[in-house]
Amino acid sequence: MRVTVIGSGYVGLVTGACLSDLGFKVVCLDKDEDKIKMLQQGDVPIYEPGLRELLARNRADGRIRFTTDVQDAIEHGDILFIAVGTPAREDGSADLGHVLSVASMIGRNLKDFKLIVNKSTVPVGTADRVREAIVHELSHRGMPAEMFDVVSNPEFLKEGAAIDDFMRPDRIVVGIDDGIHHEKSQRMMGDLYASFNRHHSRTVWMDVRSAELTKYAANAMLATRISFMNEIANLADALGADVDQIRRGIGADNRIGHSFLYAGCGYGGSCFPKDTQALVSTAHAYGQHMHVVSATEQVNESQKTLLVDRLVQRLGADLTGRKIAVWGLAFKPNTDDMREAPSLVVIKNLLQRGAHVTAYDPVAGHEAVAALTLDCAGQAHGLKNFKLVDHDMDALHDVDALMVLTEWKNFHNPDFQAMKLSMRTPYILDGRNLYNPDALADLGIAYQGVGRRNELVKLAVDPVSNNTLTVDA
Ligand SMILES: NC(=O)c1ccc[n+]([C@@H]2O[C@H](COP(=O)([O-])OP(=O)(O)OC[C@H]3O[C@@H](n4cnc5c(N)ncnc54)[C@H](O)[C@@H]3O)[C@@H](O)[C@H]2O)c1
Repeated sequence: MRVTVIGSGYVGLVTGACLSDLGFKVVCLDKDEDKIKMLQQGDVPIYEPGLRELLARNRADGRIRFTTDVQDAIEHGDILFIAVGTPAREDGSADLGHVLSVASMIGRNLKDFKLIVNKSTVPVGTADRVREAIVHELSHRGMPAEMFDVVSNPEFLKEGAAIDDFMRPDRIVVGIDDGIHHEKSQRMMGDLYASFNRHHSRTVWMDVRSAELTKYAANAMLATRISFMNEIANLADALGADVDQIRRGIGADNRIGHSFLYAGCGYGGSCFPKDTQALVSTAHAYGQHMHVVSATEQVNESQKTLLVDRLVQRLGADLTGRKIAVWGLAFKPNTDDMREAPSLVVIKNLLQRGAHVTAYDPVAGHEAVAALTLDCAGQAHGLKNFKLVDHDMDALHDVDALMVLTEWKNFHNPDFQAMKLSMRTPYILDGRNLYNPDALADLGIAYQGVGRRNELVKLAVDPVSNNTLTVDA
């Protein structure tokens, strides 16, 4: 069986690379010529651990190649994956423009049977629309409508651990509808993923609509756990409790488990924000309300400004003349993806208040500047007061505070003494709860985590106003 992947972004490239590593002959198509040129030259347009090596090996062995040639790509695969973006529209609904244009493109080029596998995250009913778009094109060409089937195979990989997630999936969801091709489609999908089902079956078979909704339900559940813990953290702050202890206490319950219970300065990324919005929007279109998911979104929005609110409580709303350091720009570690990253909201807010921001991220700096340039385009000073530095310690010189926004491993154990010497005020706002509040108190560093007994910040003195930095617990 040969495989074509349409859309060579995070999901498409990982899918293509992993399937080629399993021995399939893979062609990755993208409409972005620069991206394809880079890939053809052995370069990788995104940062994803292990992806560069996997692509290089399989490219050298002739199992994967990259093209912008639609006809070539569609002729190649017995299975055609759709892995293009489904961004949020203004009203929160999923924009299916890319998916449907790919469907039409397939319809215009189909010559023999193909199994079309939708990997993009799409609202319920999209497979029907993909089918209609293909049939429409086929009928124009006087071709029969039975030359294809559309199945749903949502992707659950996490950026930063995408290869491992793909190669060792918890489950593979495949939605196939009844119809003349049902048996053939099921056999092809079974063969495609046979490597993952050798020990025990990881494939969960279902109908297409259920598969489409499963993806949204999974992301909404994970986002809800995060927002729930953020609410508990904010309450813990008010009550003088520590959310990290609470996290361990509830995570030990098998019914709850430890994953996705970390309080922080909000979730971001290319999936949770847009998928929760799309789920709310789908429900709305069917006269229903997703109360829990809507609340999850609201909590997340306010959580993104929590650290700035705290800074403002201490230093005042006008941050003119203040210098603030930011460690971590990507929405999470091990990726350079800046989509919906909380750092964008935080930095824009700081700059609007007149602060100077020095920022460091191990890999996302370039992407961050591009995203911030767009975000701050209409602002008085644009990015004039923003500086990206190459080393974490370089961000700290003479700053009034450090905000930690991404839990990169190399931020876990910094040299606190050196940091204290470099900063004007030893004041850390820890948006990912990386540090031990007691240890920092012993070092004389003011510390505010998220739900971590923030009265410990009382230790610090603001040298500008000479006021003690007190916190109402
Ligand atoms: N990124 C993730 O972590 C993740 C995880 C699971 C599911 N998903 C879902 O997978 C889908 C893809 O996400 P992504 O992050 O890989 O997106 P992406 O933006 O990184 O990549 C999409 C690619 O599709 C290409 N494209 C768009 N229209 C095309 C066309 N007509 N022909 C050929 N190529 C075209 C774009 O140029 C781009 O390279 C989305 O629906 C997303 O919600 C993403």
